[in-house]
Amino acid sequence: MIVVSNRLPVDHDPSVEGGWRRSPGGLVAALEPVLQRTGGAWVGWPGTADLEIDPFELEGMSLVPVALSAEDVALYYEGFSNDTIWPLYHDVISPPAYHREWWEAYVRVNRRFAEAVASTAAEGAVVWVQDYQLQLVPRMLRELRPDLVIGYFHHIPFPAYGIYAQLPWRKQVLEGLLGADVIGFQRVQDAGNFATAVRRQLGFETKAGAIRVPEPDGAVRTAVAKAYPISIDADLYDELARRPEVQARAAEIRESLGNPKTILFGVDRLDYTKGIGHRLKAYGELLEDHRLDVEDVTLVQVASPSRERVAAYMQLRDEIELTVGRINGDHDTVGHTAIRYLHHSYPREEMVALYLAADVMLVTALRDGMNLVAKEYVASRVDGRGVLVLSEFTGAADEMSQAVKVNPHDIEGLKDAIMTAIEMSPSEQGRRMRALRRRVRDHDVADWSRRFLSDLDAVRATS
Ligand code: G6P
Repeated sequence: MIVVSNRLPVDHDPSVEGGWRRSPGGLVAALEPVLQRTGGAWVGWPGTADLEIDPFELEGMSLVPVALSAEDVALYYEGFSNDTIWPLYHDVISPPAYHREWWEAYVRVNRRFAEAVASTAAEGAVVWVQDYQLQLVPRMLRELRPDLVIGYFHHIPFPAYGIYAQLPWRKQVLEGLLGADVIGFQRVQDAGNFATAVRRQLGFETKAGAIRVPEPDGAVRTAVAKAYPISIDADLYDELARRPEVQARAAEIRESLGNPKTILFGVDRLDYTKGIGHRLKAYGELLEDHRLDVEDVTLVQVASPSRERVAAYMQLRDEIELTVGRINGDHDTVGHTAIRYLHHSYPREEMVALYLAADVMLVTALRDGMNLVAKEYVASRVDGRGVLVLSEFTGAADEMSQAVKVNPHDIEGLKDAIMTAIEMSPSEQGRRMRALRRRVRDHDVADWSRRFLSDLDAVRATS
């Protein structure tokens, strides 16, 4: 099997030991265990411009780097991927920019990825293309290598037709995706939005997740488009959370915050889709209204650096840091802080210690394909305690019905939900957490990849 995604699972970083650091985001977190289990190769960008390196082996995976020039990074990655498709597919929370030069770079770089896979894949291999940066690869690959079985998984939302229709290249993108035999989405609704766009733009027949795709040679092929909600390696989080040193670290974290009665926790890439500003607003007002007291509560907010050269992200960082500074300035005492803000990313062990230290986990995304943080929190709570406050606009909300659900745009509702979570009795916490943990354990990332790959196998068997 070959996995192809914009990023390799590791980023080149000469400042760390070994020269490689784990890549950010949910995609890599989910796929790494799959590829380690099945063997095979991963084709992707090593995360730095103008870096030409030969294929190499790392932690049981064969990695095949695709080089991007500084111009490719600016136009294809920061431009079309992260300033056109990302905001458009997340319901235009930030306005998408449409530039023909960005589109041309996107086509060019997608072709480079397709060529890299075509020259790596064995006869009849299964190729699994990942995410919105590579939507044209399935079609390009089918043209180069008709012998391959091609899957595509879309990690982010697929928007409603009225939004998708803005895209000047809306037909080409759909045609690109339809080069795959199986096209996977996070939610049933994303798969439905895709089928609607295919019907309206291309006029192809779609029925219960099967799309009739006319090929240039006159044949008609069936592509499958359906939901496969992604997950995490739940056993790994469970195991980490049971380690005495991780539990000791959780106690140390509480101690270092002055042992407040309640620790609220948020962890996100610093992205405008995550609703960090809404969360801070609700929390600041709870302090303002004296429903919370800074002596009793601390919000730990980890905001990991992301896409720092894209203007919308620079602006977001300024806004968030201004808000944090104001809230802390208004409410901190010498001994207690309202918000402990950390603009870093952390290793997994430290994340699990933070999850264990957190009484309430705040996931307030305005739109999110899945949100694996919600699942990581639950998988880490081996003690059956803790409350998950979860935005209904995440993919995870479809599965995690025992979370305290919120509409993050409704600040009063969000404030009430935070109070409900803080005041929840231990027995109620336990009841909800047990059900959530069962769900995440039974539907882990191995189960996700099994479901997707078995649908791909079924295609192979009939072709
Ligand atoms: C999300 C996307 C991934 C992406 C990750 C990190 O999880 O679905 O495709 O890799 O964010 O973003 P970055 O731009 O740093 O790759």
